Amino acid sequence: MTVAGTEPQGAEPILRLRGVGRRFGGVHAVRDVDLDVHPGERRALLGPNGAGKTTLFNVVSGEFPPTAGRVELFGRDVTTMPARTRAKLGLTRTFQTSRLFLGLTVEDNLYLAVLGVRGGHLRPVRLPGRDGALRKRARDLAARVGLEDRLGTVVGSLSHGEQRQLEVGMARAGDPKIMMLDEPAAGLSRGERLALTELLLTLERDVTLVLIEHDMDVALRVAERVTMMHDGRVIVEGTPAEIRANQLVHDLYLGSRYTDE
Ligand SMILES: Nc1ncnc2c1ncn2[C@@H]1O[C@H](COP(=O)(O)OP(=O)(O)OP(=O)(O)O)[C@@H](O)[C@H]1O
Ligand SMILES: [Mg+2]
Repeated sequence: MTVAGTEPQGAEPILRLRGVGRRFGGVHAVRDVDLDVHPGERRALLGPNGAGKTTLFNVVSGEFPPTAGRVELFGRDVTTMPARTRAKLGLTRTFQTSRLFLGLTVEDNLYLAVLGVRGGHLRPVRLPGRDGALRKRARDLAARVGLEDRLGTVVGSLSHGEQRQLEVGMARAGDPKIMMLDEPAAGLSRGERLALTELLLTLERDVTLVLIEHDMDVALRVAERVTMMHDGRVIVEGTPAEIRANQLVHDLYLGSRYTDE
């Protein structure tokens, strides 16, 4: 169901999905999803656990291909294109489980992101050479996510909120055109969620933002349009006000564990 009369007008979508499905054996994790996200838009993807949100992200970022349908990014068919090529085209994403280098400093994590090193659990044996301009870029990124005073801090000793801020900074390193964040507010305290919300609201409009978020305060504050998934399908799409007023959303979601604290 799409709420009528709310389709954004104008530019071609930066992300367009048509009939996208992904099966794992007998499990239909995602089915028959159509989605248009326009340049500069802030879109939230909501849905109960197991709804297929992360699987949809994986199909869009190229972790694996869909088993049905078509994925277009920047007006190109990227359905079978590998993740690294999509990243070069301007897509960046974060993962539900953080992929920071916990044993390195904030500055070194950002420096590695500037160099295009993808995060993981292993600490690099040796950091690549100290390129002054790239170091400056790393420090600029820290300032943009409010971590300018934490440059020398080892990431493992940051608060959860600061780690999420750092992930946003790292995601910005390659000057992406579209940024996809998988549950950036998960596990954060109320104060940290507010800080993250403010950070997301200050992101430049030349970056399109798609975020998966269980926290309705964050999702409905940051997003202009909301897509709700259930059982692999998109079941509702609309503005935050329409989502708040939608009975189906209340039945499936707001009435369950995600009620206000
Ligand atoms: N690699 C996989 N192999 C098999 N089944 C999978 C795989 N990834 C996801 N699934 C299944 O697909 C369905 C959707 O999972 P997905 O992780 O996309 O949901 P989600 O909406 O992100 O949930 P959550 O809110 O808990 O993160 C679930 O039934 C899940 O068990
Ligand atoms: Mg998920």
